[in-house]
Amino acid sequence: MAESVLNIESLSIEYPISIGTVRAVRDVSIELHAGEALGLVGESGCGKSTLGLSILKLLRPPGRITGGRILFRGVDVLAMRRRHLLRFRGNDVAMVFQNPLTSLNPLVRIDRQFLETIRIHRPGISTGDALALAERILVDLGLEAKRLYDYPHQLSGGMRQRIMIGLGLVLDPEVIVADEPTTSLDVIVEAGFIDLLNRLRKKYRPAILLITHNLGMVAEIADRIAVMYAGVIVENGSAEQVFYEPLHPYTYGLINCVPNINLEQEKLVTMPGRPPDLVAVPPGCPFADRCPHVFNTCRSTPPPLLDVRGSRRVACHLYESSEVAPWRS
Ligand SMILES: Nc1ncnc2c1ncn2[C@@H]1O[C@H](COP(=O)(O)OP(=O)(O)OP(=O)(O)O)[C@@H](O)[C@H]1O
Ligand code: SF4
Ligand SMILES: [Mg+2]
Repeated sequence: MAESVLNIESLSIEYPISIGTVRAVRDVSIELHAGEALGLVGESGCGKSTLGLSILKLLRPPGRITGGRILFRGVDVLAMRRRHLLRFRGNDVAMVFQNPLTSLNPLVRIDRQFLETIRIHRPGISTGDALALAERILVDLGLEAKRLYDYPHQLSGGMRQRIMIGLGLVLDPEVIVADEPTTSLDVIVEAGFIDLLNRLRKKYRPAILLITHNLGMVAEIADRIAVMYAGVIVENGSAEQVFYEPLHPYTYGLINCVPNINLEQEKLVTMPGRPPDLVAVPPGCPFADRCPHVFNTCRSTPPPLLDVRGSRRVACHLYESSEVAPWRS
């Protein structure tokens, strides 16, 4: 297996608010290997963006890290001083945000936005070389080089999202954190975007942390999947394993909710119930209230993330006595 570039170790993040403390990320560990794409999936509010933002030390107030470490090639990101951090962001790890309209400055032409990004990290570069670099990236992204001289409002949503990816890739970072990169796109543009991302992966070989609700997109891109629920990782495995043989009852429920065009389905399947309030996390398994397999221990003791069948991990008490998923036995 490729060397690991990013290690998140036992990370916990909270948001103190007026009614209590939102425990958004609880004791999460994730490893990202060079060149691989890891899909981080889970329902809304389970802590995915909080985790993604923390990797670049971009947590929004009042978010604070209360435990754990983030290591980039062994270097402690949380201990980085401002200058080191500025170099790290963009050069080593880049972030592609959800909404390109709010992430691009509407008053500034695209070439200026590229120049600003490039010059922070390559202070000696000439304007001509920087623009040539930006034009090359645009062409790689399937855009005409002249689009570099447009304002964001002159571009379609799909083009703006490509520009966001370009701004992420232009410094050739080792890791890209992409948070819901296709949410603002329609399905046709989204399909083109997925093809593009897969082509760019082959050329630039960044590791990608792909944060999304969209299991279809994860299936097209990710090598591995981490499933998050109520601030914790409940399952982790290769994309194939997780899709074809989900172990955690929550993962099974999520995959079951994806409409299958090969089956005659009269109505959409949904998962009953809602995730728990992260201000008052239950003492046992956070999925207990929605789980069809719940038993007494689940209500009192949080399940540890167990190694199952060598390469997989699952946080569910069922696997303490058996390695067979309950719906398969
Ligand atoms: N700035 C903030 N202040 C207070 N609470 C916050 C803040 N940002 C996020 N939260 C809370 O932290 C929890 C995790 O939120 P987060 O945005 O990380 O979830 P998510 O999995 O990315 O959700 P979505 O899929 O909707 O983007 C939620 O309960 C959310 O309400
Ligand atoms: S630990 Fe218990 S409640 Fe939680 S997923 Fe497993 S069986 Fe269900
Ligand atoms: Mg989010």
